[in-house]
Amino acid sequence: MSNSAEATNNAEAALLDRDMAHLIHPLHSKAAYSGGKVWVGGEGAFLLDANGERYIDGLSGLWNNTAGNGRKELADAGGKQLLEMGYASGYAGSSNPRAIELAERLAKITYPNINQFYFTSGGGESTDSNIKMARYYWKLKGKPEKTKVISRILGYHGVTLAAMSATGISGYWPMFEPRVPGFSHIASPYPYRYEAPDGISPGIAAANELEQKILEEGPETVAMFIAEPVQGAGGVIVPPDDYFPRIREICDQYDVLLCTDEVITGFGRTGRMWGLEHWGVEPDMIQYAKAITSGYFPLGGTGVNDKIADVLDSGEDVWMHAYTYSAHPVGCAVAMANLDIVQGEDFPTQAAEKGRTLLDGLKERLDNHPHVGEVRGLGLMVAVEIVEDRQTKAEFAADEKVGARINQAMQNHGLFSRMRGDVVCLAPPIVITDQELEQVIDAVTNAIGDVLGA
Ligand SMILES: Cc1ncc(COP(=O)(O)O)c(C=O)c1O
Repeated sequence: MSNSAEATNNAEAALLDRDMAHLIHPLHSKAAYSGGKVWVGGEGAFLLDANGERYIDGLSGLWNNTAGNGRKELADAGGKQLLEMGYASGYAGSSNPRAIELAERLAKITYPNINQFYFTSGGGESTDSNIKMARYYWKLKGKPEKTKVISRILGYHGVTLAAMSATGISGYWPMFEPRVPGFSHIASPYPYRYEAPDGISPGIAAANELEQKILEEGPETVAMFIAEPVQGAGGVIVPPDDYFPRIREICDQYDVLLCTDEVITGFGRTGRMWGLEHWGVEPDMIQYAKAITSGYFPLGGTGVNDKIADVLDSGEDVWMHAYTYSAHPVGCAVAMANLDIVQGEDFPTQAAEKGRTLLDGLKERLDNHPHVGEVRGLGLMVAVEIVEDRQTKAEFAADEKVGARINQAMQNHGLFSRMRGDVVCLAPPIVITDQELEQVIDAVTNAIGDVLGA
């Protein structure tokens, strides 16, 4: 190796040493340093590391950067707003034009019954905000005992204490117990693994678990059910078509608010602007974050239906819930510019078409692989579930670290993404080109081949 190549290769290692000395990371783990990356640049669907290597951004950052890196329109919108007014309070009694414009725009593009919006800095804050909104709503409605939250195993809603308690990926719990009381979970509508009783479709059976849970808890105590239309971090779990219509019926029957967590699925990712549009279902509350700014600025939020908004406006009690950065003018300006891209470049249609290319390409190459249990997806959210035994669907023993090895092998083939255990999760930027999608398909196929044989 020449001296200059060595110096380049050391650039990332040197940064990682400094990082390790002072930085605490999300999901902090010293073990993760050995293969650590330091990202210094990006272009479209690519990320550039500190050694100058290019990787396809297989998960759009953390499912958020749908517009890809290097979008000048987003930088210009943020820069202009930073100069005009970097910050002003959004507390009741104060507002700013960008927040007003963004709320008006969301009213036009979200579900028709959702017309009032609250802004946060991300997904977890949005979960907490919706939980508190639901409790506040029921108190004003004269049902103060309706406080409980039901969610799903393998659902992900963030890691603040309430959001963590709603999250159903159990690895997030043990070191932070006790969880907030009043939270419970039902099974996911996971077609690959869900076993429905004879004579009943898996979608209906999985939805009926909500009814059973509500009855077990007592309908008079349940405030809301929160669910991602397609579960993301849990391993891209796409529900059967009859699941959400039945969930809507159950929520209506027992007066339980249906909250859809569209933090990943919002703004086109699944091939529709919003996830529940696939099944013609309207929620009572929504939450979004991530792709509202393509990750260029931390912004999230909630939206409530007219029924909840009316109650909120009729209350004499202040909704004592607030974030300093709610309705941040720079975040709202970036979001407006990003929605110009989402709508102008028709992200929902692009995600539907490119998702089909990715899914079909992976199925063609992997459907017969002895360790590929399922290739699934909706829009540009796709997963490959690796199993030890296709017949029994048995997973590999955790200490074989198959997922981690495949992840490393994908990196060797120029693709950076994330796994849920042994499930390869893919959600590249919606601007990815067809040729780059072929590279993703090659990288995943070759990586699985490297670790488990072709
Ligand atoms: C569906 C969903 N909800 C909530 C969150 C939490 O968002 P944040 O990390 O911005 O708090 C995530 C993050 O991945 C998510 O996927």
